[in-house]
Amino acid sequence: MNYMNPSPIKAAITAVGAYVPEDKLTNADLEKMVDTNDEWIVARTGIKERRILKDPSKGTSFMAIKAAEDLIKKNNIDPTEIEAVIVATVTPDMHVAATAAYVASKIGATHAFGYDLQAACSGFLYGMSNASNMIAGGRYRKVLLIGADKMSSIVDYTDRTTCIIFGDAAGAVLFEASSSGYGWEDEYFRSDGNGRLFLNIKAGGSLFPTSKESIEGGMHNLYQDGKTVFKFAVSEMTHAAEQIMQRNDIDANTITYLVPHQANKRIIDAVAKRINLSHDKVMSNIEYFGNTTAATLPLLLRDYESKLSPGDRLVFAAFGGGFTWGAAYLTWAY
Ligand code: UT7
Repeated sequence: MNYMNPSPIKAAITAVGAYVPEDKLTNADLEKMVDTNDEWIVARTGIKERRILKDPSKGTSFMAIKAAEDLIKKNNIDPTEIEAVIVATVTPDMHVAATAAYVASKIGATHAFGYDLQAACSGFLYGMSNASNMIAGGRYRKVLLIGADKMSSIVDYTDRTTCIIFGDAAGAVLFEASSSGYGWEDEYFRSDGNGRLFLNIKAGGSLFPTSKESIEGGMHNLYQDGKTVFKFAVSEMTHAAEQIMQRNDIDANTITYLVPHQANKRIIDAVAKRINLSHDKVMSNIEYFGNTTAATLPLLLRDYESKLSPGDRLVFAAFGGGFTWGAAYLTWAY
């Protein structure tokens, strides 16, 4: 079976933008907050610092708007030409009111509709499929996809197993129809709902609405069984990447970059090793930003944008709550 993109119109990423808050939370800072140390954090996660949006009056939309404005300004884009805004996030400003709708209004995308996409750390990966298929279907010409998370709003800073990993950030990409011949090529996505036991926020949804007990029991903070998540992340990201490579006839020699979700440097290294990829072909910035959930992939693209050329072969891979995971193949268009 041929999985290659059958559409004559290929959706390509044509612009990238990002925003990270100024405030840094270093390992030395965390040493003062919980029983941990720089050596342990660096050895077990590869993280040295993360960014935190400290202003309590600002939500995820603040960073999403900044990332979109960075993209718009750098590329001289008319926001009224944007037809859809998708925000992948686990930390929307509010339940019910779509953060993407607010972002679209604030950036002047007055002809766009907006919606949020929740697939945890796989949110941006799945969002790329949404955006590119909207373009490839021929109905839309410019779709803005943003990955943004204010993880500090859901992390328990007395829990040393989670607070050392996460940070706040936003990244944005524009998908457009491209005549370059390059763009979204293939995707392999999976999920397993049994995984929700191991990575979740228990309360605040319809299953456990907010109550006195839920607040007192700390059920609104992020919980993870790190070891289990780690194990699944390595095996499933590897399997998904292998599927994508096999069916698109690409290998460690012909891939330009692996673009992996940044959850733990040991996960990234293990996946790269299993697909025989050398370190110079693996995008990574976890050292400086930690795990920013839906923002990791576009933040990597922002950091590596200047190194990319038309035709470069990028394999994306992500794993997150749900469980959700997958891999995708995109050829760079500029
Ligand atoms: O984005 C997708 C979702 N998240 C992930 O993909 C994260 C996946 N998991 C992980 O990254 C890792 O499991 C963690 C970084 C969360 C934990 O690393 P680990 O190597 O799996 O540690 P562990 O949970 O096996 O704990 C080993 C030891 C334990 O002590 P004992 O029982 O051996 O005495 C922990 O209590 O390390 C201890 N520990 C810590 N020590 C210092 C756990 N957290 C810390 C800490 N500082 N922050």
